[in-house]
Formats: sequence, C-alpha cells, structure tokens
Amino acid sequence: MLIIRSIEKMQSYSKKALLKGKSIGFVPTMGALHEGHFSLIRAARKDNDLTAVSIFVNPAQFGPSEDLKKYPRNLAADLEKCRQEKVDVVFYPDAKQMYPKDYSTYVSVEGLSDLLCGTARPGHFKGVATVVTKLFNIVAPTTAYFGQKDAQQSVIIKRMVKDLNLPVAIKVMPTVREKDGLALSSRNTYLNKKDRIDATALNQSLNLAKLLVSGGLRDTRRIIERMHQLIARKSSAKVEYISIVNSETLKPVKKISGSCLVALAARIGKTRLIDNLIVRDAL
Ligand code: PAF
Repeated sequence: MLIIRSIEKMQSYSKKALLKGKSIGFVPTMGALHEGHFSLIRAARKDNDLTAVSIFVNPAQFGPSEDLKKYPRNLAADLEKCRQEKVDVVFYPDAKQMYPKDYSTYVSVEGLSDLLCGTARPGHFKGVATVVTKLFNIVAPTTAYFGQKDAQQSVIIKRMVKDLNLPVAIKVMPTVREKDGLALSSRNTYLNKKDRIDATALNQSLNLAKLLVSGGLRDTRRIIERMHQLIARKSSAKVEYISIVNSETLKPVKKISGSCLVALAARIGKTRLIDNLIVRDAL
C-alpha cells in the first residue's frame, strides 16, 4: 500500500493509472476509520481496479466552536486497517498543503447547504464542497463513495458534481449500524455509557417514522411529533431538528409522497449526532 503525502505525487500516480486505463475508486475520509468506512472501501475495491482513500481532517468544515482539535485521530490504526482492506493508496496531505496562506477559493452549493444541518453549522457544507472538489482534482477518481448517514452531504456533492460537470460518478452506500441500531460515526467515541444508551433513541425514532408511514400515516407534522415524543421519553437527547424532506431537493414536505428523507440531528451530552432514513409512500 502506498502512502502519499504530496499533492503532486498523488496527481501523478492517478494520471499514470488513468493513462493505463485503470479505474480509481475513491473513499474520502477524515480518518478514525470504522465499519462504515470499510463498507465504502469494499464497494470501491469491488467496482474498480484501484482503491484510493484520503485521510484529512478538513479544518474548513469545522465552525470556530466545533470539535476540530479533539476530532479523533489515529493514523497508525487507520493505515493498518487500510492495509487489511487492501487499499492501494492512501492520500494523507497536511493542512498547509491543502490550504496555503494565500488560499482564497471556495465552492458553495447554494440553497442545499443552508437547510437541515446547514442551519446550525453555517459554512460547514462550503468547507465540505471545497475539500471534496480539491480531492477530486488531486485523486482524479472514476467513482467516489459516500455514506447515506451523511445524507445531506451526499445530496450536495451529487449536485456539485452535476453543476460543475466533474468527471466522477458518485455512489452512496447504506448506513452501517451497531446491533442496537446506532449509526456508526467517528463521533460515537465521544459518548459515555449513558450517552451511548440514550443515543439508541435516535434510530428508534426513525424506525417509528417508518412504521407510521407503513401503517398509512402521511402527515409529516404528526410523524415528527411522535418522533419527538419517543426521543423525549427514552433519552436526554436535545433534538436540534427532525425534518421530513424531499430526498433530492431537501425541501420540507407536508405529506409523504414518493421518496422522502427523514433526517435528524441531536445533542447527547456534548456530542452532536445525525441520522436519517428514507421512507416511501408505497412501501
Ligand atoms: O464525510 C466526511 O468524512 C467528510 O465530510 C469528507 C467527505 C471526508 C470531507 O472532509
């Protein structure tokens, strides 16, 4: 497995591979790798000749009061896991290279970035869109893989790729969950024992939404109300939002019709967690 730190070396590696007709599957990450990442890596390996993973904790997507400093980092363990997963190349740049002092160009996907998580995290998706554009230009992947857990991020990246005519296919893979339903996230490591138990209420509320829809309830206000009640009864989580939106436009819907995204964000102790589920009127 190659570990490349320099942007130029990564670009030249990809250029050579593409000239030889090889496809590159790419999994961008911020490290602290878990089964969710491995499912993306396995999909990339299955579909492509070469698999590239980037590990970069992107400062541009953290707000001033967010967890950039304490975000879990464990390079040695991540590299070992990448080796075990038979990744071909890990791109691990430093922030100075990615954002030199005179850095001044950003990518902003308007509209979609201000909704849902964008309300509490202004600038977050601008940081994500910017770094993903840069990574696409550096790694030059044929296909890039993202997790459904970050549903809004995936919608934004798909729109960005379409709007900017970026020559990369985007694949969104299902959320990987713990046995009790908690969606895997690098931030789960922040949870203490009680928080960890409380956190299961989030997925339970999404399952309740699915059950209500399959039972014929279409009124999203009532579904959201029931989800709030379940979370309040079962945990100390402070809900930031629960929204039911069109899964492409991310605009709130009043009635379940077609494919809708039920998305939520909540704070459990000091940890902010997100989760979501797609529901359809014809289940
Ligand atoms: O989903 C993530 O881990 C990050 O937002 C990403 C896509 C690697 C960009 O920093």
